[in-house]
Amino acid sequence: MEREIVEKVKAQFGRQAERYAESRPHATGTSLDLMVEWATPTATDRVLDVATGTGFTAFAFASFARRVVATDLTANMLIQAHRLAGERTLKNLLYSLAEAEALPFRDGVFDISTCRIAPHHFGGVPRFLAEMHRVLRSGGTLVLCDSSTPEDPDTSAWQQETERIRDPSHVRNYSPSEWRRMTEEAGFHVERMSTEHRSNLSLSNWVRTAGNDPTTVRLLRERYLKASPEVRNAFQIRFEGEEIHFSWMLAILLARRT
Ligand SMILES: C[S@@+](CC[C@H](N)C(=O)[O-])C[C@H]1O[C@@H](n2cnc3c(N)ncnc32)[C@H](O)[C@@H]1O
Repeated sequence: MEREIVEKVKAQFGRQAERYAESRPHATGTSLDLMVEWATPTATDRVLDVATGTGFTAFAFASFARRVVATDLTANMLIQAHRLAGERTLKNLLYSLAEAEALPFRDGVFDISTCRIAPHHFGGVPRFLAEMHRVLRSGGTLVLCDSSTPEDPDTSAWQQETERIRDPSHVRNYSPSEWRRMTEEAGFHVERMSTEHRSNLSLSNWVRTAGNDPTTVRLLRERYLKASPEVRNAFQIRFEGEEIHFSWMLAILLARRT
């Protein structure tokens, strides 16, 4: 099952890497600023960015840190990250092809570890968190940000199914309480958590980034048009001419390795 997920991720992101390199919601966003503000990287810090995609989180930390190791399991995403880092003349980045659940690093070698908008694709989030714990030094900092889901099971089920239709490599969005529990169970002390930030999306861009075919786009449009008032409210769905706007809540978390 987990091999199957890994293959789906590689197929999806391998095909769409150039689109992700242009994606504004990934390149910018107040969530990225908050992650840097909370983690306060300094010129001596060794940073690990897991599931870096086309590198935007790694770049944000590289401006302050001594070195950032950017990892991902999709080679094409790392190729785009390398290209974009060159355009930004960032020279303190290293790249490693790696699964989040099996990191190829020795124990305790990083001061900060980060992961943004990716764990919802992981087959084993508890194993990923155990790996983040292992590779951080004692007292090291973990900063996570992922699209989250409401605690209410019905609205959550609508979102999970919508995500899977758009991207077969989607596994699951976790609610804020699930994130807190899993992070603490992995041996971290959660110091800060925010659910104030949202990823603001438009359906046309969202399906373009995923490379959806016209049948899938039609199916998704219908889901949004038929969504219940509770779902519309939870995901701030609004219609503007032909366009559909919506937003996902982000769970952002700062935790200390104990
Ligand atoms: C949306 S992109 C990440 C965005 C990026 N972190 C950013 O801040 O812009 C999701 C990435 O997760 C990677 N990924 C998914 N599952 C993974 C896993 N189990 N291990 C490592 N990388 C994974 C994909 O290859 C893809 O590049």
